[in-house]
Amino acid sequence: STTPKAEAFPAGKGNEDTPPCFYGKRKLPPGPNGLPFLGNLLQIGPKPHRSLAKLAEQYGPLFTIQLGRHTNVVVSSAEMAEEIFRKHDAECSTRFLPDAVAGGLINHDVSMPWISTGDQWRTIRRALSTYLTNPNKLDKLQGLRLKSVTQMVEHVKEISKTGQVVNIGNLAFITALNQMSNTCFSEDVAHFNSDPDGTEFEHAVKTIMKVDGKMNLADFFPWLKYFDPQGIRRDAKAAYSWLDQLCEKFINKRLRHRESNCPPHGDLLDSFLDFQQENEVYFGVRQIKVLLMDLFIAGTDTNATTIEWTMTELILNPDIMQKLREELNKRIGGEGSLEEAEILEIPYLQFVLKESMRLHLVSPFLLPRKTMTNVKLNGYIIPKNTPVMINAWAIARDSDSWQNPTKFTPERFLSSEIEYKGQNFSFLPFGSGRRICPGIRLAERVMGLILMSLVSQFDWKLPNNMLPKDVDMDDTFGVLSQKATPLLLIPTTIN
Ligand code: HEM
Repeated sequence: STTPKAEAFPAGKGNEDTPPCFYGKRKLPPGPNGLPFLGNLLQIGPKPHRSLAKLAEQYGPLFTIQLGRHTNVVVSSAEMAEEIFRKHDAECSTRFLPDAVAGGLINHDVSMPWISTGDQWRTIRRALSTYLTNPNKLDKLQGLRLKSVTQMVEHVKEISKTGQVVNIGNLAFITALNQMSNTCFSEDVAHFNSDPDGTEFEHAVKTIMKVDGKMNLADFFPWLKYFDPQGIRRDAKAAYSWLDQLCEKFINKRLRHRESNCPPHGDLLDSFLDFQQENEVYFGVRQIKVLLMDLFIAGTDTNATTIEWTMTELILNPDIMQKLREELNKRIGGEGSLEEAEILEIPYLQFVLKESMRLHLVSPFLLPRKTMTNVKLNGYIIPKNTPVMINAWAIARDSDSWQNPTKFTPERFLSSEIEYKGQNFSFLPFGSGRRICPGIRLAERVMGLILMSLVSQFDWKLPNNMLPKDVDMDDTFGVLSQKATPLLLIPTTIN
């Protein structure tokens, strides 16, 4: 075998999961010199997707960066991503666990996004693909999602009578949240005219997204985790616990309902509880609770953020907005509404969404991975337990793969076969390989339905005579990269 023996490398100090620490002694990919102790921490700034993309121009598509105690490998080209996902997916498919999750989420040992790819992980993924993202199941529960979108449309119609602004990200978030809660347990958890539970829900999900992706000193200097210097573990714990209790409440209520022999709801929770009976070991009530939490965390703000970016691009590109509206009207015709599966077949709507996801990677580095063994990559040996950062944001704006990469041009997908499935390595909004997002089919439907309704039913304009050139296009960095300034628009109902 060409893979050197593990002893050829210094083992990470401490437990098995500790990433290795080594300063430039063996053949690693090139990288910038760093300061003693801090490494390159001060060089990456608040927007690592951007600063690391700049470093890639200097050090190439595979480079090394020292973040505190950890040496990370950064991947910044489609070719290099292809090598990882096609040849080394199994060896790079374990996660680097942020301290916010390790210390904040009590049951992280059964949380699908964070556990290693063993039997536990496989069982949970199977439960999702069988009961949630299988097209027949998606079709069966689509009425519940349509209900939330109808409520959204009614709410915007009310606002349009007053000439007030709509916070698009917030609107999409509440809609996506209710679509998820209805899919899971047939209930709304938020209302457009904000109520305490909805607001708390939003706060919990947004806090988790924020803290999980925050540059946490305790991740770079593991001994700091006992001190939690930025209060990240504390905030994570509070938000995770709130969501944990809420999901527990819904499960208990459902268990009582099932015991009382009332008719079943037939929603996702019922399916999970049925599945549990055959899979006690890997799919007990604890796993179900954490899976529901994971669905809310991974499957609501991600959709809402994409809608907000898409509406931003459409308001900056009125010709594209108009073309999309015409295409939608042609398809909707006199029917008034469409099945979700039909929405997926409206080409221009799909191009617009894809282009938006290309330019505004919701998860700029996907979810953090690390090597499970020594991995030979592009002639270098990457030691076991090295965090691997895939800069999907940089890859999606690489001029080697995309013409005029920063321009919003949905037509670029017209003659291409590029799908979300992670087989085109210049376009990885949902990741790739065995850890690819399991929610793609649901996300496509949720986003398609919301965007179709916003564009076909309303005309939108910027408030206060603001010009498109004044719209702030800055993004934030985290597990979720969002618009730094919320998009506010005034709706007019189209009759
Ligand atoms: C993982 C993106 C919607 C559930 C991921 C990953 C990305 C991603 C980039 C990491 C993939 C990797 O490491 O290679 C998105 C985007 C969404 C979205 C952009 C919407 C616009 C959803 C939805 C669900 C979901 C609706 C609900 C079913 C998950 C879960 C994981 C995941 C559970 C962890 C998978 C694992 O580690 O095995 N998603 N996602 N996501 N996503 Fe999504």
